Amino acid sequence: MLDPADLDAADPLAFARGRFRIPDGLIYLDGNSLGVLPKSTPARLGVTSEQEWGDGLISSWNAAGWIDWPLSIAARLAPLVGASPDELLICDSTSINLFKLAMAACALRPDRKVILTEEANFPTDLYMLQSAAKLSGAELRAVPRSELSAALDQTVGLLSLTHVDYRSGERHDLAGLTGEAHRAGALTLWDLSHSAGVLAVDLARANADFALGCGYKYLSGGPGAPAFLFVRRGLQQLCTNPLPGWFGHESPFDFDTGYRPATGIARFQTGTPPILAMAALDEGLKLFANVDTADVEAKTGRLGDLFIENVGDCLALASPRDAGRRGGHIVFAHDAAYSIVQASIERGVIGDFRAPNLARFGFAPLSLTYSEVAKAGAIVRDVVLSDYWREPRFAERKAVT
Ligand SMILES: Cc1ncc(COP(=O)(O)O)c(C=O)c1O
Repeated sequence: MLDPADLDAADPLAFARGRFRIPDGLIYLDGNSLGVLPKSTPARLGVTSEQEWGDGLISSWNAAGWIDWPLSIAARLAPLVGASPDELLICDSTSINLFKLAMAACALRPDRKVILTEEANFPTDLYMLQSAAKLSGAELRAVPRSELSAALDQTVGLLSLTHVDYRSGERHDLAGLTGEAHRAGALTLWDLSHSAGVLAVDLARANADFALGCGYKYLSGGPGAPAFLFVRRGLQQLCTNPLPGWFGHESPFDFDTGYRPATGIARFQTGTPPILAMAALDEGLKLFANVDTADVEAKTGRLGDLFIENVGDCLALASPRDAGRRGGHIVFAHDAAYSIVQASIERGVIGDFRAPNLARFGFAPLSLTYSEVAKAGAIVRDVVLSDYWREPRFAERKAVT
């Protein structure tokens, strides 16, 4: 068994832990849903609200650089996803960005009438792709994961997938599938919501076309944080933003009545960015400065392995055993998974539940130690083996699971 104390002693990311505010006695394994609060964020929100908004008022769009934040904050994300800063933008939500990019991609392949995806994709991805397909005169084809490669025929204009499955944690071969799609003449759109901040994503090496992801998970941007989007540089000038607001205009303050898209990635902006939320995301992303994504991915995998070892055989693992095939979270299948998660929360281990029967635990590599993850595994094991979870109050369903 891996020795957690040895792993902590040798951890190149150990310095980061002290930069997060984590309540005493809590082992937080839900960074895959809502990342923990960076200690610097409340003060930064204070500066942005009191000084920049309160004192600076409208002048802060220029003086504090608010107008540049969608691009300048995106630049901090670039090394985490293997992109150039001018290929990334912070804007809108993951759902909205999915729609924008799927529409843009369909318009680049007007003769191909199929968007291909996986039937187990995250619901918002499926809904948005369905709508984009309908509006583009295309069809959404959702197939099982094992049939994706075979389904990549000459009718497919866009392959849109979530890199790491929100339930199983299973990881797609991003570079491999992008290559297959390109050979079939299709474009690719990757949802990196469960990858950014836990894996060494390399969009450039994969030659990926479009991507996006959440800001509030492993990036610690805060609840409802703005999302990010990526468009490969070579495609940007060919693309049309289907939600062309004034912030994506070449010169918004000309108040032109005709739309002229901005050059480059900026054309994917729509409306005014949510500045307070952007400030919080900036603080989350700052914590990744000078962090090697290879270290991030290696620690994510080891934390997961350690947790699996400590939970032992009392729960059925429903994620790949091999860390190289996983993202940042792990699920166990059990008919009483909801109760097990609730009972574990009462014992100080925060995970979540995904219907119909999965207990999910996420491993944010910057804010967790090996020792606490090992302890958390032992606590979950005890919750299961002691039958503690059988107490009826743990079965009462809350609105958010
Ligand atoms: C893969 C994936 N995509 C998208 C979303 C959510 O999108 P939004 O931020 O627009 O609510 C989630 C939320 O958990 C997700 O797991």
